[in-house]
Amino acid sequence: MAAELHADLAFRPVPRDIRLASATNGDEKRHKHSRSSYSEASPLTSRNNSLTFRPAKRPMPSPNKTIAIINASGRQAASLIRVATAVGYHVRAQLRNLEGVVATEVATNPNVTVLRGELYTKERPSETVQVDVTKNGPISGIGVNHALIQELFRGAQLAFINTTFYGDEQRIGEALADAAKRAGIQHYVYSSMPDHHAYNKEWPSLPLWASKHKVEEYVKKIGLPATFVYTGIYNNNFTSLPYPLFCTELQDDGSWIWQAPFHPDAKLPWLDAEHDVGPAILQIFKDGPRKWGAGKRIGLAYEMLSPKEACEVFSRGVGRPVRYIHGPIETKVSIPEGYRCQLEALEELFGLGHDDPAKQPPYFGDAELENTCPRVALELWEGPRGLEEYAREVFPLEEQANGLRWMLDDADDAAATNHQRNGNGGGGGGGGGAAHPHHINGYMTTLAQMAQYSDGEDEDEGLVMRGLKRDDEEWLA
Ligand SMILES: NC(=O)c1ccc[n+]([C@@H]2O[C@H](COP(=O)([O-])OP(=O)(O)OC[C@H]3O[C@@H](n4cnc5c(N)ncnc54)[C@H](OP(=O)(O)O)[C@@H]3O)[C@@H](O)[C@H]2O)c1
Repeated sequence: MAAELHADLAFRPVPRDIRLASATNGDEKRHKHSRSSYSEASPLTSRNNSLTFRPAKRPMPSPNKTIAIINASGRQAASLIRVATAVGYHVRAQLRNLEGVVATEVATNPNVTVLRGELYTKERPSETVQVDVTKNGPISGIGVNHALIQELFRGAQLAFINTTFYGDEQRIGEALADAAKRAGIQHYVYSSMPDHHAYNKEWPSLPLWASKHKVEEYVKKIGLPATFVYTGIYNNNFTSLPYPLFCTELQDDGSWIWQAPFHPDAKLPWLDAEHDVGPAILQIFKDGPRKWGAGKRIGLAYEMLSPKEACEVFSRGVGRPVRYIHGPIETKVSIPEGYRCQLEALEELFGLGHDDPAKQPPYFGDAELENTCPRVALELWEGPRGLEEYAREVFPLEEQANGLRWMLDDADDAAATNHQRNGNGGGGGGGGGAAHPHHINGYMTTLAQMAQYSDGEDEDEGLVMRGLKRDDEEWLA
């Protein structure tokens, strides 16, 4: 049976009615300069004269715009929700559940209205009845949750839509575009990716990206005022977990090896999705469709680094050697069939540059688009987090959240070094003996402290593509 739109779909977690009376409200008729921001009792009131009048203290003026966002717990969407709501935008956010740190963060944000439910429906066909593909779609039993999608855009003027391969990505993408059109969305930003075959008939399509390209074509066809962003390789794809493509495999000597089919010297676009997608998309909305509409495409990447360069900066950040090996994708965990096909095609596509980096197809398909990186991205947002900073500040924390322990060895080493430097624990305040936390640098102190409280269980979940933090993140490219 089709999943239904539940009455509690529009879930408002906390009261949010904090809007102050406007200047036209009867309670608040005085001119904004008619009283000081200082209290009457303040000695500073005497400073208020016609030249120094200050307006009353008031909340930041709100843009009074609502953004419709799907997959709100995803890295791209959550990044936008953080920055947009911080400056007063309202968000209607689709979440499939309220579990997890990010979903909780989104659902408790006072500027967010949560629509809880999946974008697809599961209609399990009865075994005795012939499956009607015209009803059930190309993937038998999977439909589109039109009711939720229609509700998503109610009262919204803007939309940031990042579809994923769960369900039927093309049909969901088209249904979202149709509903946005009906709702009169003024600016629709779609997070797309290229179909390489559309740029060069000798290049294979990457199946999970090709459906995004089809959605992009559809959005253009129906005439939505739209911008398409192509996001670079996320910094936090890297992991020591044995996931294919971006696994930095830990070696006995503490170094890492990254093996992938990209030519060692061919440039690739990189992006810190959590840090930098939000501010860039917000700027696109602020500039509006006049600047970015009419189907413009933007390559959202802040660094163009070859795999060798990426390893160098990563190594500088994390303080351990990282070596690149140009080789096939190793799949050591069980992965979904769709992702396996994607990886096979990716190996074939980027294998085209095997002997010559100039022959490797551009990651974004279109060399012209890639040549605008990072210039255009920096026009939108000037404060990105590069791979080196990511590796230094965030990677160890994410690794530990995924159940890995190497950073604790680093913390022990750093503690031992300081211990020796300080004369066997005698220096710097606090009891003697073991390392003193204030002798260790920032994050290592935190990690060392966290280790004290960990239960010490080794959470070896075996060779399946699943980690503590990475549950269900199977589409790493
Ligand atoms: N990684 C990269 O380098 C890269 C680069 C360019 C484009 N992309 C594209 O970005 C998209 C992913 O976006 P993202 O990185 O922002 O998301 P993400 O952080 O990977 O999160 C995935 C989202 O999908 C949801 N999800 C997980 N399992 C699901 C299921 N069974 N059914 C329905 N939804 C499910 C998650 O919801 P829960 O939190 O509830 O699990 C979450 O909202 C993909 O299409 C990918 O191709 C990735």
